[in-house]
Amino acid sequence: AGPCDIYSSGGTPCVAAHSTTRALYSAFTGSLYQVKRGSDGATTNIAPLSAGGVANAGAQDTFCASTTCLITIIYDQSGRGNHLTQAPPGGFSGPEANGYDNLASAIGAPVTLNGQKAYGVFVSPGTGYRNNAPSGVAKADAAEGMYAVFDGTHYNGGCCFDYGNAETNNLDTGNGHMEALYFGDSTAWGSGAGSGPWIMADLENGLFSGRGSGNNAADPSISYRFLTAALKGQPNQWALRGGNAASGSLSTYYSGARPTASGYNPMSKEGAIILGIGGDNSVSAQGTFYEGVMTATYPSDATENSVQANIVAAKYGTTALTSGPALTVGSSISLQATTSGYTTYYLAHTGTTINAQVVSSSSTTALKQQASWTVRAGLGNSACFSFESKDTPGNFIRHYDFSLLLNANDGTKQFKEDATFCTQAGLNGQGSSIRAWSYPTRYLRHYNTVAYAASNGGVHVFDSATSFNADVSWVIATGFA
Ligand code: AHR
Ligand code: AHR
Ligand code: AHR
Repeated sequence: AGPCDIYSSGGTPCVAAHSTTRALYSAFTGSLYQVKRGSDGATTNIAPLSAGGVANAGAQDTFCASTTCLITIIYDQSGRGNHLTQAPPGGFSGPEANGYDNLASAIGAPVTLNGQKAYGVFVSPGTGYRNNAPSGVAKADAAEGMYAVFDGTHYNGGCCFDYGNAETNNLDTGNGHMEALYFGDSTAWGSGAGSGPWIMADLENGLFSGRGSGNNAADPSISYRFLTAALKGQPNQWALRGGNAASGSLSTYYSGARPTASGYNPMSKEGAIILGIGGDNSVSAQGTFYEGVMTATYPSDATENSVQANIVAAKYGTTALTSGPALTVGSSISLQATTSGYTTYYLAHTGTTINAQVVSSSSTTALKQQASWTVRAGLGNSACFSFESKDTPGNFIRHYDFSLLLNANDGTKQFKEDATFCTQAGLNGQGSSIRAWSYPTRYLRHYNTVAYAASNGGVHVFDSATSFNADVSWVIATGFA
């Protein structure tokens, strides 16, 4: 059985079922998600390998070979057509054209399920999905339930990495107009024990960790690599539960009456579905989503416990974040441009600016050092890499507003994540392409010989699709110094 078969057996069927990693019904053979590739704008649908099975990641890899791919649609498996697509602007605008949010990279969150490769939805700040007119999602004070599987190590304090019920007009229409799972370490509204991250309930104008706004110590910090979060609500009652998606059972962090502040009892749920954003399209948060569902009645704890057992049995596991030519931590490297006309250029720095400069064996020692980088384990994720300046130890290549800068490691989580890059085979068939861990749609690129974290055909000048594959492909060899 799949999670939605279990909810059905419990008398609380799914009204929406989203996953890029697996079928959530044992008989489901339809499309799980759609990807769009950068090379020609073509799309394809990814289905499970077999009924009820794991997504056919190999089909994605073949379709996306030597280019970039975005997740354009996360299909609803419930049969109601409650698909998630690129979120439109609302109270806040997204970074894409016309204020839409970014779409997620199709390769930002590779995992295995029972040893079979699949991809989750890696939400960088600016990324969001939404459906403003779903069928069957709870409205007003009606009951509902939901769960999601997240990456407990990928979060931030921005508003708001959510999955669940939100406004149908992309605006903050008042207290009680949302009921969505939140994951992260925002303390703007509520918090739990420790320093976070926490699972909380986004009920609009408030992330709730318990009955009252503010701190509720019964909501623990939780950072399992794979974590299950569950939320349910019905008249003057709601509950928040969580656990390790790879083993064990769910714990209840809160179960009881609605918040006492005005507007939350009764609720005024609107019945749209969001992923990765707040109800008003707040787009500052990050997180990773693997699967999640919504029900339109209040599931029992026993039903949720069976769903948790099903998730554990799916055996989520980690897999490599890098591919292509291997890098050796501790080695000194040079990165040679592969764009026609620029093959004498190497990744270098001038002060804090990262750029591409002509370097050769007869260059000055100073320039050779400026074009040499020490490979370090990724400061923000040790499964990827950071690049430390040879001539300015303690300084690393990082992105800031998507420009690449050489900055000192200030020890913050933000810096470490901005300075973490994951390698893969070069998109033009040469060397390696190097994507930003925290923005996997963005690759280390030279443009007018200045270096950026660029997406393939995005809104910035340096995102130009022209020459993208060549500009992001670098031949990595032993450093000049
Ligand atoms: O409730 C927290 C956030 O507040 C909501 O997600 C958003 O709509 C509002 O800004
Ligand atoms: O480069 C994108 C973002 O810009 C970085 O993550 C952040 O540090 C800066 O605001
Ligand atoms: O960085 C040099 C060139 O500048 C890039 O190849 C091209 O995309 C841009 O015009």
